[in-house]
Amino acid sequence: MSTNTVDNRRKVTTLRLIEMKTRGEKIAMLTAYDYSMARLIDQAGMDVILVGDSASNVMAGNVTTLPMTLDQMIYHAKSVVKGVERALVVVDLPFGTYQGNSKEALASAIRIMKESHAEAIKIEGGAEIRESVERILSAGIPVMGHLGLTPQSINKFGTYAVRAREEAEAKKLIEDALMLQEVGCFGLVLEKIPAALATEVTNKLTIPTIGIGAGGGTDGQVLVMHDMLGINKGFSPKFLRRYADLDTIIDSAVKHYITDVKDGDFPNANEQY
Ligand code: KIV
Repeated sequence: MSTNTVDNRRKVTTLRLIEMKTRGEKIAMLTAYDYSMARLIDQAGMDVILVGDSASNVMAGNVTTLPMTLDQMIYHAKSVVKGVERALVVVDLPFGTYQGNSKEALASAIRIMKESHAEAIKIEGGAEIRESVERILSAGIPVMGHLGLTPQSINKFGTYAVRAREEAEAKKLIEDALMLQEVGCFGLVLEKIPAALATEVTNKLTIPTIGIGAGGGTDGQVLVMHDMLGINKGFSPKFLRRYADLDTIIDSAVKHYITDVKDGDFPNANEQY
């Protein structure tokens, strides 16, 4: 089998992602928040489906990810899990459910695993959340880290600009990445950092890195589904590639339906009982 062939038979596990890195096979990850889209994305051969707290933006219409609650994440995760057979399902721990202390972090992670049946959690941050990461891992829950632009800290950053351009922040990011690997994380999202730094981190780690706005040197890529399908056209950062124009397709279909209803053209004789 060639290195980039989608293997549709085998369930993706955290171990398999590490194997993919070892043999140089890139990892494809995409967000999903509901059953129907998760089913389509899984059937297409996605390796990892992230139930991201970006649901706050694209599903709930909030400006930031901060308002997302644990109950809301569990609702989305439960729906996604029902649609997925092959992909690994990873769920974000939302803002305010792990920063207080490691006991609280573990309780939040356990609720996600128990109630949604997802397979792993993702958590934003480095040294400051080390104890929480270790405690979650000690309960047998796989953890994916998230460094660089961590959207839950937007009020501290004050901007969604590229992170770790300065040497001190880049150095801390490398230290955090090594620490997350050392404590047992199975993977790491690197968001909006210089490509050279993302490549350096990737080369230093044996666990896979998944980039978003971090260049082509990472072991995989992740995008927000609504952005890459062109549903959310108001958001167009440099790193985003659009694979469809669903905004236009949906607009045209909905307008067509309205016209048909107004004209009495829908339903026709074959569309009634
Ligand atoms: O919430 C999310 O969608 C994410 C990705 C951008 C990595 O964390």
